[in-house]
Amino acid sequence: MTIRVPGDKSITQRALVLGGLAEGESRIRGILRGADPLATGRALVALGVEIAGLEGAADSEVRIRGRGLRAWRQPSGALDLCNSGTGARLLAGALAAQPITAVLKGDASLSGRPMRRIAEPLTRMGAAVDYLEREGHLPMRVTGAALTPLRHRSVVASAQVKSAVLLAGVGAGVAVEVREPRPSRDHSERMLEAMGVEVVEGEVAESWSVRVPSPPPRLGPLDMEVPGDFSSAAFLLAWAVLSGSGTPLTVRGIGLSRTRTGLLAVLERMGARIAVVPREDTGGERAGDLRVDPAATRLRAVEVGGDEIPAMIDEVPILAVLAARAEGVTRITGAAELRVKESDRLAALATNLRRIGVTAEELPDGLEIEGTGRPVSGSIESLHDHRIAMAFGVLAATPRCDLRVDDPTVADVSFPGFWGLLERVRVRSARLGRASFGG
Ligand code: S3P
Repeated sequence: MTIRVPGDKSITQRALVLGGLAEGESRIRGILRGADPLATGRALVALGVEIAGLEGAADSEVRIRGRGLRAWRQPSGALDLCNSGTGARLLAGALAAQPITAVLKGDASLSGRPMRRIAEPLTRMGAAVDYLEREGHLPMRVTGAALTPLRHRSVVASAQVKSAVLLAGVGAGVAVEVREPRPSRDHSERMLEAMGVEVVEGEVAESWSVRVPSPPPRLGPLDMEVPGDFSSAAFLLAWAVLSGSGTPLTVRGIGLSRTRTGLLAVLERMGARIAVVPREDTGGERAGDLRVDPAATRLRAVEVGGDEIPAMIDEVPILAVLAARAEGVTRITGAAELRVKESDRLAALATNLRRIGVTAEELPDGLEIEGTGRPVSGSIESLHDHRIAMAFGVLAATPRCDLRVDDPTVADVSFPGFWGLLERVRVRSARLGRASFGG
């Protein structure tokens, strides 16, 4: 069976923001119409960027008429990024170079997430950032300025921090460098290059350095197809591995940046077989199909450490669910960043696993999970976190599970249509499986 998943969330967010800073009309196909990018799109419209087709039919092209690097309009009210950390942080970076003042706000989850990590480098460049309620958190007012160059050393490997600084530098036309402990996802770098910006990357003094030495006076528009989201595909791949349905599953047209696909190597160590079929690159991004071998897999526990986490930062929830069905104790470390995602994911995972009868322990920076083949049952508290809801939704759709996820609608943040697709795949696999056994 062959399926597709919606467009990549990170690439969609960047296409919207960078399209809004470009000169001329960007044309983007395959965009994700999830709640997060829709919130970013509305904020950009409030800043004077014209966007056509974003709330249109799922496969229609989106056209963005950018205003150029420093011509965003003063918005009349606060910009509501809802649940979107990427939207808030990317926009803060771009706003730092605009001759305007804008207030960024979000929902309760986003208002609990740290903003100092971006505010600090942006204020060092010359922007003003004021917290309106709680230090270090949204709502926050960003006042743009003529910025100065910056070399920023980030203590966390975070693509959102890196991108905020890169956008500020490109917006203001000043050189910037970000050094991070390990390479985080590089979609901003690839897209900036596609728009004519020189980006220099490499190891420097045991850090990963990304530099924009001489930003151009203007950005050319984008014309690209957003590949499918690996992080969304991961849920379906995991379902195929866990269900042992015996039917091959192919997920087509997925973005395969090495900075995103770390889960594949971990799955291989666990004993799953997933083939990668490369396809044509799009927008500077590698893309291809992922095919799960139908052989029933006996999963083995794994050790996953800090070096591997950045390339699978959003896949830890689904890894935890896989670990719950693997033989042995899986140990995940170096993942403290998960505590500041849409929920404290380490706590959410350990608590929910224990609620359904799986032995799981929270470590300061990770998890220990003892796999079990026994039936599991209970209700899942998703804590309004899309990836927690979907990870347990995958488990719920496999044998020997009787689970209820409290708030399935939260999946719309990144994967509209998730539950319907999962159910279709489950039902069709069962039918195809029966057919191949002559049933
Ligand atoms: C994202 C970066 C990651 C990731 C998030 C999307 C991005 O966050 O968890 O879902 O698009 O830049 P951090 O940069 O905070 O690690």
